[in-house]
Amino acid sequence: MSLFPPIIENIQKAAQLLREGELVAFPTETVYGLGADAFQEEACQKIYAAKGRPSFNPLIVHCLENAQVDALAVLGQDAQKLAETFWPGPLTLVLKKREPSLLPSIVTAGLETVAVRVPLHPTARALLKAFGGPIAAPSANRSGFLSPTLAHHVLEDLHSKVAMILEGPPIEVGLESTIIDLSGDAPILLRAGGLEIEKIEECLGQKILMNQTVSKIKSPGQLLKHYAPHLPLRLNVQDVDSQEGLLAFGSALSGSKVTFNLSETENLEEAAHHLFAFLHLLDERSDITGIAVQSIPEHGLGIAINDRLRRAAEGARDVDLLKRL
Ligand code: TXA
Ligand code: MG
Repeated sequence: MSLFPPIIENIQKAAQLLREGELVAFPTETVYGLGADAFQEEACQKIYAAKGRPSFNPLIVHCLENAQVDALAVLGQDAQKLAETFWPGPLTLVLKKREPSLLPSIVTAGLETVAVRVPLHPTARALLKAFGGPIAAPSANRSGFLSPTLAHHVLEDLHSKVAMILEGPPIEVGLESTIIDLSGDAPILLRAGGLEIEKIEECLGQKILMNQTVSKIKSPGQLLKHYAPHLPLRLNVQDVDSQEGLLAFGSALSGSKVTFNLSETENLEEAAHHLFAFLHLLDERSDITGIAVQSIPEHGLGIAINDRLRRAAEGARDVDLLKRL
């Protein structure tokens, strides 16, 4: 398996593979997605099998345009506002499914709601256009591991399980989309992500519920431990050991074996962009005993960055426990 640049011949080949029920990995502006024809049950089943994803965890359906979303889901007033303002872009909306639905129930894990998003990345858009229908796509990593922001992350994680990997151009955001549930009475944040929550609240003119207990019940995927690196993570460190790799933010602590700085200038967008790539790089090293992470402010994209770091620290602890059993 090699990587395919997004030239027209490859995009058409990828669209044809999707029609034939195969899996194609492609970049979006957030992370790489593992795509299948959203209307083919067997193709969508392959996604779950390739990722080792539990069947209770539904997929995001990617559409080329808002009109395509409208055919699958009911867009209320708030959804219309957010769609007009932020699509195409790193926002996923959970909406009531339009019935009767062409989506096989496996896509939504049997729920009455569907997660939809219109991506911005040119390769994702070219593929959606050439394919001509909605594409179901979770992040292109094995369930529970780090999300891929580079094509070679997908290659290493899933190479034997995808028919084709489209590579590039580079991903801009680097964090998964922000997920807002609009299927109930009030908007609820299900996952902090690449679109700042403050921008969404400003657009809607109201606060968004961030109740963890609500979102855990409402978004099955958020129950899972995610992003487990192999090495242990220490968060909000004030000092670093000479055997550790340092993930710095702002002015870097001294004394680590190796340092990657998410953003010397404390720019959260830059930090989000680098987060998974740097975690992958540190996690691949055999000459360090752990990853120390400097603190990152809890606002804007920092909310999503800290969420992923906490999950990575938890996930790494579980991997470690399993190894010791
Ligand atoms: O940026 C992204 O969102 C990337 C790119 C490829 O678009 N996709 C992505 O998909 O991160 P995935 O499968 O890794 O995460 C989707 C999350 C899961 O936590 C899942 O539980 C939740 O969305 N989800 C999907 N459908 C849902 C629904 N109907 N109700 C609640 N949560 C849903
Ligand atoms: Mg994922």
